Amino acid sequence: MRPKSSPKRIDLRAVEKSLRLWSGLIISIFVILHLINHTLGLISLEAMEGMRSYLSVIWFDLPGAALLMGAFLLHFFLSLFSLYSRSTLRMPLWEGTQITLGVLIFPLILVHIVGTQGAGHIIGFRPTYEYVIFAIWVSNPILGLQQSIMLVIVWGHMCMGLHYWLRLKNWYSRWSPFLLGCAVVLPVIALLGFVRIGRELDRSHARSSKIQERVFGPFIKAEPELVANLYALENNLYAIFGVLIVSVLVARFIRRLYRNRHGVYRLSIHDGRSLTAPEGQTILETLRIAGIPHASVCGGRGRCTTCRVHVGEAIKELHPPGEVEQKALTRIRAETEVRLACQTRPHKDLSIKPLLPPSATARDANKVGGIQGREQKIAIMFIDIRGSTKLGEEKLPYDVLFVLNQFFAEMAAALAETSGHYAQFTGDGLMGLYGIDGNIVKACRDAILGAAAMISRLEKLNARLKNELKEPLHMGIGVHAGEAIVGAMGPPSAQNFSAIGDVVNVTARLESKSKEYKCRLVLSKAVAEIAGVDASNHPAHSADVRGRDGNVDVFAVDDPRDLVVPASA
Ligand code: FES
Repeated sequence: MRPKSSPKRIDLRAVEKSLRLWSGLIISIFVILHLINHTLGLISLEAMEGMRSYLSVIWFDLPGAALLMGAFLLHFFLSLFSLYSRSTLRMPLWEGTQITLGVLIFPLILVHIVGTQGAGHIIGFRPTYEYVIFAIWVSNPILGLQQSIMLVIVWGHMCMGLHYWLRLKNWYSRWSPFLLGCAVVLPVIALLGFVRIGRELDRSHARSSKIQERVFGPFIKAEPELVANLYALENNLYAIFGVLIVSVLVARFIRRLYRNRHGVYRLSIHDGRSLTAPEGQTILETLRIAGIPHASVCGGRGRCTTCRVHVGEAIKELHPPGEVEQKALTRIRAETEVRLACQTRPHKDLSIKPLLPPSATARDANKVGGIQGREQKIAIMFIDIRGSTKLGEEKLPYDVLFVLNQFFAEMAAALAETSGHYAQFTGDGLMGLYGIDGNIVKACRDAILGAAAMISRLEKLNARLKNELKEPLHMGIGVHAGEAIVGAMGPPSAQNFSAIGDVVNVTARLESKSKEYKCRLVLSKAVAEIAGVDASNHPAHSADVRGRDGNVDVFAVDDPRDLVVPASA
């Protein structure tokens, strides 16, 4: 069984991940609006200035300026941290490109930040488009070229970040052609707007030098000491940048020396290869250093799950998954012996079996489990809505669909709130699984609680739909437990985590017995015993199950809410 992650400990990687995302999103909003503002240069300088005056209220004054600068600095420091925390700089080309562009942004954008935000606040004026474009197009064309390159780098880094974040979302593939078009067209138009105004200012300057006096007026009138401070600020920031980069590289070197002296682990791969790596290095990093291709669609951020590996019994020796990893594993309903190679840092020898090929794509990110089935004790639940045929005769197909969908939404919610997993749709009902994580006692208790939650939800649904229905909806539930084969099943494009085996067939039969026993829940005696629930005050039956030798002892429970379920540890 996979060790549980501690809910109380703050998972620094989860915090880092969300800070990176949110700071990146704030910067992206600023950049997109800024580029849209540039495009207005194709109309006129006045149009550009008009939009800028609104935007500068957001970004130049508090609290917007603090938010933007805070997001920028945070994003930069997180990039440095990411550079430090990687054990290897071997990585796929796209990942290396994104990191390199991210690091280049800081020195390139410094002059822009100091010349606008810095100059504006230190000297005391509001930088206009006329001032900025004159400074970098007319006064210093080399700087203009450098800033144009910076714009492309910022845009490229931002688009890559957004792409690698969004491509795991289901809707993204539909929208990606449109978004790609925007990603190409917007910076081109923005640069054209900038060039047009630059040339216009150049012509004005050739006619009269008054424009220069006007745009640089605040500098000319400013105290020389303030201007000197501004230049000093720029130089100091460059020096700080250099020191930080060197510090990260030195820290990486020291950490490597330390790790090499303090324990190694042996990583055996199912094809017979074996590697040695220092403790604290992730499985993915170890594979990358050895040049062994391994799927990692999100670049090791714990989002895509394509790096998933089967670790077998050694799961007990590993540290529990952190919040990020646990969330991803839960999403794909991974088996208990599955971990993410990018998040797992072994401290003992380990054998792994990659579960997806190195060529896995973003589509594979949502594949359930990703491995062949396993045999496991599990609690199964079948539910069925009663009288759906009659409902179909009384109502229009659209109304029937509406009612059924409401019913299934309530049942799915009851499953989810009691740690159950929706396994499959069965026409008028559905099948749920409890105990995928391997705790059969909790599974049986949760299944009984799930049945009680379903009855409560059905009553509320009936109250809500009383004007739509001639008579209230009724349902039957069957719950049983035993060994089943569980795993990802179905065609490759639509796999689902489900179960097969005798226990599944028996549970389906128990559910149908609820009509015969005139009750809402048919609970197998086995489940009641495992759960530690006393159901002896409910009618007991020995249910004959078609196609099976021997009967199954059950209780016919009319209201599962009457059962007293012990709390699970
Ligand atoms: S590489 Fe994406 S989750 Fe590990």
